[in-house]
Amino acid sequence: MTKFSKKIRKAIFPVGGLGTRFLPATKSIPKEMLPVLDKPLVQYAVDEAIEAGIEEFIFVTGRGKSAIENYFDHSIELESNLKDKENLENLNLIQKTVLKPGSVSFIRQQRPLGLGHAVWCARNFISDEPVAVILADDLIEANPGCMKQMIENWDGGNMVATMNVEDKDTSSYGIITPGKIIRDKIEVRGIVEKPKPKNAPSNIAVVGRYIIQPSVFEDLALQKKGTNDEIQLTDSLSSQIGKYPFYAYNFIGTRYDCGTKIGFTKANTNFALKDDEIGKEYNDWLSSLLKN
Ligand code: G1P
Repeated sequence: MTKFSKKIRKAIFPVGGLGTRFLPATKSIPKEMLPVLDKPLVQYAVDEAIEAGIEEFIFVTGRGKSAIENYFDHSIELESNLKDKENLENLNLIQKTVLKPGSVSFIRQQRPLGLGHAVWCARNFISDEPVAVILADDLIEANPGCMKQMIENWDGGNMVATMNVEDKDTSSYGIITPGKIIRDKIEVRGIVEKPKPKNAPSNIAVVGRYIIQPSVFEDLALQKKGTNDEIQLTDSLSSQIGKYPFYAYNFIGTRYDCGTKIGFTKANTNFALKDDEIGKEYNDWLSSLLKN
């Protein structure tokens, strides 16, 4: 019986994507820095990780992503400006974005060769322990957060968060072949990246939350190309089936695909409607807009 480390201390955040769907905005701003209401997407992802007990944050970046690195650091000028103005509320707000010294690493994925490749770039930061992977453009509103739910339901092996999608949408996701259902988890008997609806083994789709065993890195090291000629995390997870337990966890919450304009706009509308400061006014405005 393989012995598993229970504690998941590290999370990888692949943030090297080009964000071409949001050009021209993403010409000089990483897509992960686009705000939903007043927080950048990457902050939601980090908050979710912190809530789940993650202590080390590994960002896999690319060219033009220095804004992310700066965001998690002190902004000396702004802090002193706010101090001078005794604007303690905002001072506190920006100081909270600074992660603990020594808990953050940035590694560059020099070429965008796929999600699997991005994750593999972080290999030297991971010793012999399971690690979380969080895709910031999948914004998940959940209480507790999605990664916390996963860790609470995880007892070793690999795990992906999943949700049901319409049959026509399978070609946008990793799709699992479901096996036995054990309470909130579904055994993963197979997993395939972006199958056409007619080839999809189910409509149970992976969203951007993973718990992976270190052995996944061994398969990623083979650098095999898959769907869209990219190195796919999905394929390396598939290679682990039979060697390690593998479960899908149908999280409780709402996922916004903030990698698309429609998902991003829906997320903004949802968060705006719930906001204490602007929610009511926004609701009134939106309702009258829709009446006309
Ligand atoms: C990635 C994964 C895919 C997963 C999706 C979730 O695809 O490769 O398996 O279903 O994230 O958002 P991407 O959307 O980066 O193309």
